[in-house]
Amino acid sequence: VRVLAVASEVYPIVKTGGLADVAGALPVALKAHGVEMRTLMPGYPDVIRRLSGAEEVRRWPDYFGGPGRLLAGSHDGLDLFVLDAPHLYARPGNPYVTAEGVDWPDNGVRFAALSRVAADIGHGLVPAFVPDVVHAHDWQAGLAPAYLHYDGGPRPGTVMTIHNMAYQGKFDRALAGAIGLPHDASFDVHGLEYFGGISFLKAGLQLADRITTVSPTYAHEIQSDEGGMGLGGLLRERTSVLSGILNGIDTDVWNPQTDAHIAYRFGAQDLTFRAANKAVLQQQFNLDSSDEAPLLGVISRLSWQKGLDLLLEAIPTILEQGMQLALLGSGDRDLQDRYQAAARANPGRIGVMIGYDEILAHLIQAGSDALLVPSRFEPCGLTQLCALRYGAVPIVSRVGGLEDTIVEIGETGRDPTGFKFGPVTADAFAGTLRKANAAFHNKTTWRRLQLSGLATDVSWRNRAGEYAALYRGLMASRGR
Ligand code: ADP
Ligand code: GLC
Repeated sequence: VRVLAVASEVYPIVKTGGLADVAGALPVALKAHGVEMRTLMPGYPDVIRRLSGAEEVRRWPDYFGGPGRLLAGSHDGLDLFVLDAPHLYARPGNPYVTAEGVDWPDNGVRFAALSRVAADIGHGLVPAFVPDVVHAHDWQAGLAPAYLHYDGGPRPGTVMTIHNMAYQGKFDRALAGAIGLPHDASFDVHGLEYFGGISFLKAGLQLADRITTVSPTYAHEIQSDEGGMGLGGLLRERTSVLSGILNGIDTDVWNPQTDAHIAYRFGAQDLTFRAANKAVLQQQFNLDSSDEAPLLGVISRLSWQKGLDLLLEAIPTILEQGMQLALLGSGDRDLQDRYQAAARANPGRIGVMIGYDEILAHLIQAGSDALLVPSRFEPCGLTQLCALRYGAVPIVSRVGGLEDTIVEIGETGRDPTGFKFGPVTADAFAGTLRKANAAFHNKTTWRRLQLSGLATDVSWRNRAGEYAALYRGLMASRGR
C-alpha cells in the first residue's frame, strides 16, 4: 500500500503541536504494517534547510503567484515531498501566523497550493510514487480530497483526519475561483460552502472517502452540535465513514531509560531516581526544594481549549494542599500574563516558564509527580501519554482522548493510571486535586498508579495497524 500523507508540520522539522508528532511518527510505524508512506509538506525555511538528498521532481514558473518546485528528499528516516515556493513559505517563525500572532493574510492560497500538489501527486505527477491513498491532516490539507473530487476521473482513495475541530480554515467565497476550484462548489452546501464562506476542513470532511479523528470519544463528541463546532450535522450524516483511532507517541523520543534531556534516567525498577529529577525541576522553576510536596506539571499551548484558566482558579487549592506547580507553555497573552503574575505572587510554590522548550518538557515529565491536562475538549492529547511512560500520574478532564487513555480508580477491569474530573469546571478540578493529593501521600497507592502507567502501551505499534487496515479496507471498497 502506498500512501501520500499531507501535513503542514512534521516533527522533528517543524512543530507547533501534536499534529507534528503524529505526522512524524506514523510513517515509521506504518512500515511494519506494509504501508509505504511519504509525506508532503510546505517548504518553510527550516524544511528546505534540513532536507537531505533533495531532488527536484517538478518545476513551475508560476505556482499560485510565484515560482515553485516540488522536491523529493528525506529527513531522519522520513520520506518527504516538499513544495518549495518561497513567495508562500519563505517566512520566519510560526508557520501560520506573523510575529504579531495574526494569521498570514494569504493562508488560503498558501495551503490551497499544498493541497493542489497533493492532488497532482495523487494523479501520478511523480511516476515513482503513485499513491493508492491520499491522507490529509487538518484544514491545511483539507482541499486535497476536494481537488481530487472536482478534477474528476480516476483517483486514489482519500482520508481526512481531524486533529482539531476548532481550526476550520474559513475563507471568503471568492477564493474558490482564485485557487482553481469550481465557483459553483463555493455555493454548494455539499461542497465547499460554509456559513456564507468556504471552509477547507469542511470541504475535506464532505468529500473524503473516509474520515478519522484521533480518539473514539472525540469521534463521538464531534457528532454533537456543541462538539462539532458547526460541523456536527455533516459528521452525523457521514457517521458510517467516520472512526476514531487513538494516537501513540514516539517511544524512542520519549524513553525515560535513554532520555538524554533528563538529569537522571530511570525505569520501572528504579522509579526512586525520579526524586533526583524532581529536585532539578524544582531548582529550574525556583520552587522550594521538598520531596514531600507533590509537584504538579503542565506542558501546554495556552489556549481556551486547554482549560488552563480553570487551573488558575484552582491555585488556592494547590496552595492550601501544600502542592507545587511547574508550568511550561505559550500562547494567549492574557493567560501568559496571569500565570506570570501567579508565579510572582507565590514564590517557591508556583513556577512558570513562558515559551516552547522541548528539553524542559522532558524534565517536567521526568520530575513532576502528576501531570495536569484540564482541557475543555481534547481530540487525543499527547502529554498525558508521555506522562504515563515517565511515571508522572495524569490528572485530566473527562473528555475526548483523555477519557480514552487514562483509567481512574474504580473503573472496572483495568488498573487505574490516573485521575479524571468532570464536568470541566474549576470546582470539579479542585476536588480532584484534593483527591490526588490524598493518594500521593499513600505511597503504595501512588506507586501502583505509576507502575500501571508505565505498563500501558502508548506506542504507535498497534494504532498504526488500525490505519493500515483503514487504507486496505478503503482500497478494497474502491476495487483497487
Ligand atoms: P496540542 O496538539 O493540542 O497542542 P498535544 O498534547 O496533542 O496538544 O500535543 C502537544 C505537543 O507539543 C506535545 O508533544 C507537547 O510535549 C508539546 N508541547 C506543547 N507545549 C509545549 C511547550 N511550551 N514546550 C515544549 N513542548 C510543548
Ligand atoms: C491536536 C489536538 C490534540 C491531538 C493532536 C494530535 O492538536 O489538540 O488533542 O493530540 O492534535 O492528534
